[in-house]
Amino acid sequence: MCGIIGCIDRDDIVPTLLSGLSKLEYRGYDSAGIAVANSGVRVVKREGELNELVQRIESEPELDGISGIGHTRWSTHGRPSDENAHPHTDCSSRVAVVHNGIIENYQSLRTELQSLGHEFESDTDTEVVPHIIGHELDAGSSPRTAFYEAVEKLEGSYAIAAVFEGHDEVMAARQGSSLVLGVGDDATYVASDITALVDRTDSVVHMDDGEFAFLSTDGHEIVDENDERQSKTQTTIEWDAEAVAKGEHDHYMLKEIHEQPAALRECLRDRSTTGQFVTADVFNDDHLGPIHFVACGTSYHAALYGARLLRERGVPAQAFLASEYATAPPPIRDSTLVVGVTQSGETADTLAALRAADERDAQTLALTNVVGSTAARECDDVLYIRSGPEISVAATKTFASQLVMLTLLAHQTSLESGIGNADRLLSALNELSGQIQQVLDTTNAMPTARRLANSSGYFFIGRGLQYPVALEGALKMKEITYEHAEGFAAGELKHGPLALVTEETPVFVSAIGDDETVQKTISNAKEVSARGAPVVAVTDGTTSIERFADVALRVPETHRMLAPILVNVQYQLLAYYTARYLGRSIDKPRNLAKSVTVK
Ligand code: M6R
Repeated sequence: MCGIIGCIDRDDIVPTLLSGLSKLEYRGYDSAGIAVANSGVRVVKREGELNELVQRIESEPELDGISGIGHTRWSTHGRPSDENAHPHTDCSSRVAVVHNGIIENYQSLRTELQSLGHEFESDTDTEVVPHIIGHELDAGSSPRTAFYEAVEKLEGSYAIAAVFEGHDEVMAARQGSSLVLGVGDDATYVASDITALVDRTDSVVHMDDGEFAFLSTDGHEIVDENDERQSKTQTTIEWDAEAVAKGEHDHYMLKEIHEQPAALRECLRDRSTTGQFVTADVFNDDHLGPIHFVACGTSYHAALYGARLLRERGVPAQAFLASEYATAPPPIRDSTLVVGVTQSGETADTLAALRAADERDAQTLALTNVVGSTAARECDDVLYIRSGPEISVAATKTFASQLVMLTLLAHQTSLESGIGNADRLLSALNELSGQIQQVLDTTNAMPTARRLANSSGYFFIGRGLQYPVALEGALKMKEITYEHAEGFAAGELKHGPLALVTEETPVFVSAIGDDETVQKTISNAKEVSARGAPVVAVTDGTTSIERFADVALRVPETHRMLAPILVNVQYQLLAYYTARYLGRSIDKPRNLAKSVTVK
C-alpha cells in the first residue's frame, strides 16, 4: 500500500526522503515522488520503480529545501502514471500533498472545485486536498488554517502530509491510516510506518485519529481536532537498520523464512519457561466466554488454527474474515473476547472488525508484531509475537510466530481447566526452533519445485490443524508465483474440487502422525493419485503415504499442535523456489501490498 515520508532537515533533504522511500518499497507501489519546499514547492514524480524517480531527480538542478515529503503510491483511483503519482499540488504549486487511504467524498469536492475554476491534472481522490488548501490560501487563510479547513472537509480514511512554499513546516493529519513521527537529534520526520525511520532515529511518537502534527526546525507539535495541544509519549523502536536489510539472501522472503528459528525463540522468551504462558489480562479470566478471531489473509489462517485449538479445549471459538465481520458481526455479548490477529496491526478490515466489536462492548485483544501499531493501541490488551520486521509482502516468519502464540493461549486455557500436559508441549516448543532449522538444512523443496514448476495448478489438502496450513500453502503459492493454487479440507475434495484434479495438478498433502484422521487424509491422497495427479506428501515418516506419494518432503516428529508449523516451512520453500523458477517478483508480487490499509 502507499507509503509516506516527510521531514524537516537542514541538510540533505532529498537523500533523506529517498532513503525513507526505499524503506517503504516493501509495502508495494507502482509510482513514487517527492516534493521539497523553500521559496517555492518543487515536485518530482515518476511511474515505476524508485530508481526511475532517482534518475529523474539526478537531472533536476538544485533540488533542495528544509521541508520535504515523499510518497510511494499503490493505485486505487486512477491507473499508475506520472500524473497520478503523488505529491499533488494546487493550481499554482504553492502546496504539495501526499496521502494514504481513500477520500470517499472526493467526487463531490472535485465537482465543486472545478465549478470554482480549479483544473485537475490527475484521476486521484488525493488531488482535491491541495486544491482545497489552495482555495483557502486564496481566501487569505494562513497555511495552517488552510490545512485544517481542508482536512475538515474530508470523509474517509487518510494519512496526509503537506509542505508549503515559503513556510518551513511539514503538516500532517491522520484519520484511519497510520502515521508516526520520528524524533531525531537534528531532524524531525513523519512516516506511515516505523520501517521508514529505523536508520534515522529510534525515538517515535504515534499519532492518533483526529490529530494534526506540525514539524518545524524547533521540533514538533501535535494537536487534536479541537486544536488542543497533546502531550504524547515518545517510545523507542527496537528494530534496527540491520533487521530491515536483506543481508546475504537474494530475497527478503528467503531471509525471513530462515529467520524463523530465531523469531520463535524470541516469541517464546520468558513465556515457555513458566506455567503462565501469556499475560494478557483479558485472556486470564476464569470464565472464558465466546472467542471471536478476526483477521485477513495469512493471519486469518492462523486464526482458523487458534480457533480450532480452543474448540478442542471446549472454548466456543470461531475465526472470521475481518472484512465480513465488520459489516455484519455475529451476536456479541459483553463476555465475548474478540482477538484481532494482524501482523502489521494496521490492516483496515481487521481494525474495522475490532472497532465493531468494541462498539458492542466486547473485550478486544490484538495479537500483532508491530509495537505501537493501531491495533495494539486501540485494543483492551495486546500480545506481541516479537518476530522482528517482516519486509517481504508474503508473510512467513510472522505466521509461525502467530501459531506459536496461539498454541500458548490455547494451552494456557487447557491448563486452567486442568486438561493437557504442559511438560510435553513445553519440551516440544523448546525443540521447535532446532527442528525448523533441520527442515531448512535438509529440505528437497528446491528440486521438487523445479520438477513441478510448469504445472497447470497446485492444490493443498489437510485435515484438522493441517487444514489452515493447506490454505496458507496455497495462498503463499498463488501470491508469489501468480499460478492457480487452492487449499481444501481434505474431506471436501470429493464434494467438488476433485473435478479440477488432472495429471498436471500436483496435490500437496500434509500427513503427520498415524491416527484415524491421517488415515482419512491418506485415502483422499490415494483418490487424487488414482486420477493421475502427482502427490507431494509432507510427512514425519510415521505414515504410509510415502509408499505411493511421488515426492516426500520430510519434517521431524513433534507435538501434534506444532506439526503445522514444520509443514508450513516446506510449503513456504516450495512457493519460494517455484516463484524463482518462474522468474516472478518475489518480495513485491504484482498488485499486492504488505499492509492493506484500505477496505
Ligand atoms: O498485517 P496483517 O496480518 O493484518 O495482514 C493480513 C493480510 O493482508 C496478509 O496476511 C496477507 O495475506 C499476506 N500478504 C499473505 O502473505
